[in-house]
Amino acid sequence: MSGLRAGDVLPPHADLPQYYGPGGKRGYVQRIFDASAPDYERVERLMSLGTGSWYRRRALARHGLPCGPKVLDVAVGTGLVAREVQRLAGDGLLLVGLDPSLGMLAQARRRSALAAVAGLGERLPFPDHTFHCLTMGYALRHLPDLLATFREFLRVLKPGGKLLMLEITPPRRGFGKLTLKAYIRTLTATAAWLVTRHRTTAELWRYFWDTMEACVPPEEVMQALTAVGFTAVDRYVELGIFSEYTARKPEA
Ligand SMILES: C[S@@+](CC[C@H](N)C(=O)[O-])C[C@H]1O[C@@H](n2cnc3c(N)ncnc32)[C@H](O)[C@@H]1O
Repeated sequence: MSGLRAGDVLPPHADLPQYYGPGGKRGYVQRIFDASAPDYERVERLMSLGTGSWYRRRALARHGLPCGPKVLDVAVGTGLVAREVQRLAGDGLLLVGLDPSLGMLAQARRRSALAAVAGLGERLPFPDHTFHCLTMGYALRHLPDLLATFREFLRVLKPGGKLLMLEITPPRRGFGKLTLKAYIRTLTATAAWLVTRHRTTAELWRYFWDTMEACVPPEEVMQALTAVGFTAVDRYVELGIFSEYTARKPEA
């Protein structure tokens, strides 16, 4: 039984003050994504060995998305999830991509045909009951409060609307965890630096790992979804580390 209540505050991970300056986590996250936006896809391709877009498309299709013409992709970044939504939906899609990083939004506009909106996942600038489905790829850890964010997701979805969130969940201990840590925190960060020559891009991958390691467990993410009123909350796991959280807004 979950102790979480809809009005609680649930940060996705403990503070990582070694990274944040005076602007705290929000200022840091915005700065680091703005700075690494032009190189994000290059390094992501390297890190995923070219399978990132294919995997995102597969995950969307596995869960029956898009399930209607109005889709919101929160934390759109450069548009990696959004482009796969487009590919699966074909014509007639009203796709909105939201992100606080103007650098990321500029890349998304260049690379995809979508309405790119500046904003925060925890304070969505849309009316109630707007979207048939909502997606968010690899951004859970960058939000300040999971409960506030999930309340917003529920609010803007239409009754019966569907949520899909993708996330990497490292093994809690053992060799698997050490291997993934070495891959993301050392190998990818070093490769990112060698390819881009940008210190910030390399730091982004070290920061990614530290947030993954400190992240609340999947059970708590699911409890938070349930606490705000989502139903059919579920988690599918691919290859032991790729979490695909799904949930539905109840019919009115
Ligand atoms: C790792 S990228 C993921 C981009 C894309 N979804 C993908 O699958 O590659 C995380 C994104 O979350 C965005 N982000 C950070 N804080 C956010 C917030 N509070 N609300 C919405 N998006 C946020 C960042 O600007 C960044 O573009």
